[in-house]
Amino acid sequence: MPQSSRGAARLLAATLRSEARPLAGVLAVLGASMVLRLSLPLLLGRFADDALAGESADALVRLAVAYVVVALVSEALGLGVVWGSVRLSWRAGNRLRERLAAHALRLEQAWHGRHSPGQLIERIDGDVEAMVVFFSGIAIEIAGNVALIAGMVIVATVIDPWSGLILAVTACVGAAVMIRLRVAAVSAREAERQVNAELYGDLEERLGGLEDLRANGAGGYAVHRLHHHSARSWRAARRASLHGDSAHAAAAMVFAVGTAGTLLAGVLLQQRGVITVGAVLSLYRYADMLRQPLQRIAEQLKEFQKAMAGARRASSLLATEPRITDGPLDGGALPASGHGRHRGLAVDFDDVTFAYDGGTAPALEAIDLHLAAGRHLGVIGRTGSGKTTLARLLLRLWDVDAGAVRVGGVDVRHLRVAALRRRVAIVTQDVDLFRAPLRDNLTLFGTHAAGDAELHDLLGRIGLGAWVASLPDGLDTVLEGGQGLSAGEGQLVAFARAFLADPDIVVLDEASSRLDPFTAERIASATRSLLAGRTAVVIAHRLETLAEVDEIAVLEDGRLVEHDDRARLAADDDSRYARLLRTAKHGLLPSDVGSAALAASGGSLGPRQTEEATA
Ligand SMILES: Nc1ncnc2c1ncn2[C@@H]1O[C@H](COP(=O)(O)OP(=O)(O)OP(=O)(O)O)[C@@H](O)[C@H]1O
Ligand SMILES: [Mg+2]
Repeated sequence: MPQSSRGAARLLAATLRSEARPLAGVLAVLGASMVLRLSLPLLLGRFADDALAGESADALVRLAVAYVVVALVSEALGLGVVWGSVRLSWRAGNRLRERLAAHALRLEQAWHGRHSPGQLIERIDGDVEAMVVFFSGIAIEIAGNVALIAGMVIVATVIDPWSGLILAVTACVGAAVMIRLRVAAVSAREAERQVNAELYGDLEERLGGLEDLRANGAGGYAVHRLHHHSARSWRAARRASLHGDSAHAAAAMVFAVGTAGTLLAGVLLQQRGVITVGAVLSLYRYADMLRQPLQRIAEQLKEFQKAMAGARRASSLLATEPRITDGPLDGGALPASGHGRHRGLAVDFDDVTFAYDGGTAPALEAIDLHLAAGRHLGVIGRTGSGKTTLARLLLRLWDVDAGAVRVGGVDVRHLRVAALRRRVAIVTQDVDLFRAPLRDNLTLFGTHAAGDAELHDLLGRIGLGAWVASLPDGLDTVLEGGQGLSAGEGQLVAFARAFLADPDIVVLDEASSRLDPFTAERIASATRSLLAGRTAVVIAHRLETLAEVDEIAVLEDGRLVEHDDRARLAADDDSRYARLLRTAKHGLLPSDVGSAALAASGGSLGPRQTEEATA
């Protein structure tokens, strides 16, 4: 069995084990129902023999009533089986969903970069759904049918060994044919689901970027891609369906030959007086009953394939080990944060080199950068120079390839990830707002404990007081995923979140988009109060943001080319920072002076900077 199938089998076994008791109950009821169904053809044969022997009408009616009662009770037990199996498989399925979602959340940023949200939804919801559908009915039905076939072969053998043999051969040949076809069908089904996951992933991405697509006139390209994905999806579905259908047809053929053989054997034996007419009738019923379970198994093969393919992918997701793993140290290993003006933790980049997966050139190379506790560092550099990468390594969204990143003197890889992220907060240009009340957006659904008074006070301090007052339901107003908020307001909400987290180190990754002077001022003042008394790394595109930092670092193509006190750099006419300041004074404000001036002062030009520098 290939590795992935073994993983899938283990996953299914573990999931079912958690429902062992209800499962045992369901199987017991299923067994009882099968025994009753097996007895029906025997009652029928007995009825025929008694009628031929001239039994009284009363006795025949009693047999008929018994037949009806047994049939009804067997059906009722069947209903009980359905009820029990639906309950247990939904419970087990939901537990598996939780497990998969929790696991996906533990995987690092790089993994999420390679998997679109659509793919993830298909993995966690679609695949588990297939498994639940299978176990809530089909698996039990298959188990019941297998038991039924075995029971029929045994009873038929007792009546007449030859007929039993024919039934057994029919069942075995049918099963062998189906298993051979199953292998091809499972892989076709798996390919189909993979293609579909890509289709939905692509669709999700296009819909998410609808505004950009429209604005850039890329609609035609998007539709072309959709056609391409749809065509692949159709071809994969046709292939999977063909494989499934051939299994069905083969099972039907095997069954037809088997019934004919059993009937022939029965009739021959009856003519020689070996068995009664009633026994021939019973055997014929068994042969006839073989058809349904075999056919059901053939039909359900599709669902079985879907469930197996889902289980394989789920187990391979669970087998994906997070590359960012917890270190042994808890937050207690970090120096205690002080109070008021003396808070913060030192940040050290010790000779750090890092390349993204598949990146040939390192995004950061031999970065040696040290920042004492409570100091504020401004980071500048043209686009793509590695500023955001620096922030990601500090938060351990990626791990360094060489060297070490330390926080409060402790290598971040030695800390529990959650402990590190409790002490380091990042505010970026893209703020994720949830479709939830403002209160939950601020406290992240209660992660940061804060009462209403505290929230109002905080919002007032960062300049959102009037905005909250203008909301129809105040803190209870549901933010529609960020709609109705200006970019500046969104950014300020992110600041408020960072305040509530009360970190020791703050990383600001500033938006390069131009804000109006009023919003820029509000953000500057919020920044001032957020950074007060904490260690800060401020990644800036606008030089005004850096007016108050203690130190400046300049990155160029992933290398640290300048780092010193801001005042000293400003005073040194030859420093890159001083040249930037001079360019800024010469009328480039307000804009991306950072990049433009860097370019003007000797850095090579990216396309965006070319535009601005010549504007
Ligand atoms: N997720 C990623 N996968 C692969 N390469 C990446 C990834 N993110 C960034 N890079 C590359 O790493 C380099 C540094 O990128 P980074 O985002 O750190 O630059 P930056 O200085 O923040 O730029 P900007 O000013 O545009 O925000 C760039 O060459 C970029 O293309
Ligand atoms: Mg960046």
